[in-house]
Amino acid sequence: MRVDKFLSEMGKATRTESAKLAKTGKITVNGSVIKRSDVHIDPEKDELRLFGEIISYKKYTYIMMNKPEGYVSATEDGRDKTVLDLLTEEERRKNLFPCGRLDKNTLGLIILTNDGDSAHRLLSPKHHVPKTYAFKSKYPLSSDDVKSLEAGVDIGGYVTKPCTLNLDSDGTGGKITITEGKYHQIKLMLDAVKNKITYLERLTFGNIRLDENLKRGEWRHLTADEESLLLEK
Ligand code: URA
Repeated sequence: MRVDKFLSEMGKATRTESAKLAKTGKITVNGSVIKRSDVHIDPEKDELRLFGEIISYKKYTYIMMNKPEGYVSATEDGRDKTVLDLLTEEERRKNLFPCGRLDKNTLGLIILTNDGDSAHRLLSPKHHVPKTYAFKSKYPLSSDDVKSLEAGVDIGGYVTKPCTLNLDSDGTGGKITITEGKYHQIKLMLDAVKNKITYLERLTFGNIRLDENLKRGEWRHLTADEESLLLEK
């Protein structure tokens, strides 16, 4: 792999910047300064340093973010801020995208990655990845509402798959776990039982749980264990 491609994939420098960094002696490979950024290296074996700091190669990046209100789950938007705006410049250079969508006013766990194949698999309806949300509703849900929602409701020509719902004691909220991801699904499900979602926060995505230490708008890389949990088939 070319050094400039390596540095750009690791979010460290654009190709033009890499050329300048090489020319000015800021890059070493296995201890020797390289003067050109089109030199080829083996990312797994060679030791590349930028300003003396080892840059290790990682093919893909996986990030968990606690999405705040008001941000859209997209890579760009003409009007609204996107979840990518919350990342650092270095991360933004890695061509990350949100793995699935949360509505603009939905909060909580969103995974960002540049691993297109895995994202595609995780989002495919075939895989039934469970997602748990905390919600609040405008009116209390009756036990019949819960039964209907769990069995599946018509959200405009589509009947939702069975899900599980645990109500809080006052009935105006709780946890709901769905295994699909239709547009506005939970809002439409509550509409279908003549109610209204007033608060929605995603807590889990597959085996990944939102880190309680992340404040709204904060993010971190998945740990190696979380990566394995996310990617296990
Ligand atoms: N269901 C919704 O209605 N909105 C979301 O953001 C996620 C699930």
